[in-house]
Amino acid sequence: EKRYTGLIEHYRDRLPVAADTRVISLGEGNTPLIQLQNIPRLIGKDVDIYVKFEGLNPTGSFKDRGMTMAVTKAVEEGSQAIICASTGNTSASAAAYAVRAGIRAFVLIPEGKIALGKLAQTLMYGAKIIQIRGNFDDGMSIVKQIADHAPVTIVNSINPYRLEGQKTAAFEIVDELGDAPDFHCLPVGNAGNITAYWKGYKEYSTDSATHKAITKKRPVMCGYQAAGAAPFIAGHPIEHPETLATAIRIGNPQSWDGAWTAQKQSGGWFASFSDEQILAAQKMLSQYEGIFCEPASATSLAGALHDIGNGNIPEGSKIVCTLTGNGIKDPDTAIMQCKDAPTVTVDATMDAVKKAILDSM
Ligand code: F0G
Repeated sequence: EKRYTGLIEHYRDRLPVAADTRVISLGEGNTPLIQLQNIPRLIGKDVDIYVKFEGLNPTGSFKDRGMTMAVTKAVEEGSQAIICASTGNTSASAAAYAVRAGIRAFVLIPEGKIALGKLAQTLMYGAKIIQIRGNFDDGMSIVKQIADHAPVTIVNSINPYRLEGQKTAAFEIVDELGDAPDFHCLPVGNAGNITAYWKGYKEYSTDSATHKAITKKRPVMCGYQAAGAAPFIAGHPIEHPETLATAIRIGNPQSWDGAWTAQKQSGGWFASFSDEQILAAQKMLSQYEGIFCEPASATSLAGALHDIGNGNIPEGSKIVCTLTGNGIKDPDTAIMQCKDAPTVTVDATMDAVKKAILDSM
């Protein structure tokens, strides 16, 4: 068996790369699809829930799938610098892949509104961080115009190569399960990822000049948002998005049409959840399954549990929830949620430690 060297090499025949393209990779993709064991029992429902743990990509989020493609193509086209607006994960990923490629990265982030781990990564990778006094949408609108003003390649998901890379997550799921799931649940922010998954599922279920369909089946796509940042529920962009799940604190999603297409063609829906519901799902995954994702990621499980509860997702279903980012990225929110956890401080003696153990048994 050949060594795994990233998703471009693995799915090369379904991606827009030439035989001699220099691939910029950090070994992204091939993330675990973990079947939940305790939560289905806890809720008393006969459902198979799998989580696609994208937090185990090289920079800790699904963005690496898109970034390996976007940076590979940017370098192929001779670009010396990339730029993105970001709520933190795209910027971390862009920064890392720029280092790998030997080009520069400029990242626009909303001042004070990105999780600590994401800031730390981006600093360490050495990107030029431009904090803006505004939100993600403000940054995005500047980045969209920047090409007229500076020689930089945009690596936000409006770059079509990003979605090409990200569609491979759907391939991996079908390859591993042997077929598409019945339902696929995703957090939706800028809406690139739901668009990319739907593209992947469609490509795997369509005959083309180069590939026969692998399956006829496609999942129902469920797009879940934070209540304070839910333009797909409002039906229009919203001005002042607000949520503790800072990764999806977005009011004007760029892949607006792509997300609606996924919803309509798959027979799916959008729904929104409060920060409390999102954080409860995050904690549940940690404390019942041993899986630590970031708050935004848990929106997929919050939504799945809600829709299993009300029957929108019937018993007997096979469900995949994408966990888009690693919990370690946002230590502040995690510690805040566990501030009442029973931590004890004792003397460094056997007696004191023994007492601490026995007292809590
Ligand atoms: N989950 C996480 C952890 C994210 O970082 C993002 C987006 C999403 C979900 C939503 O995905 O935008 O494709 O609908 N983060 C972007 C960023 C905006 O800048 O890191 P989407």
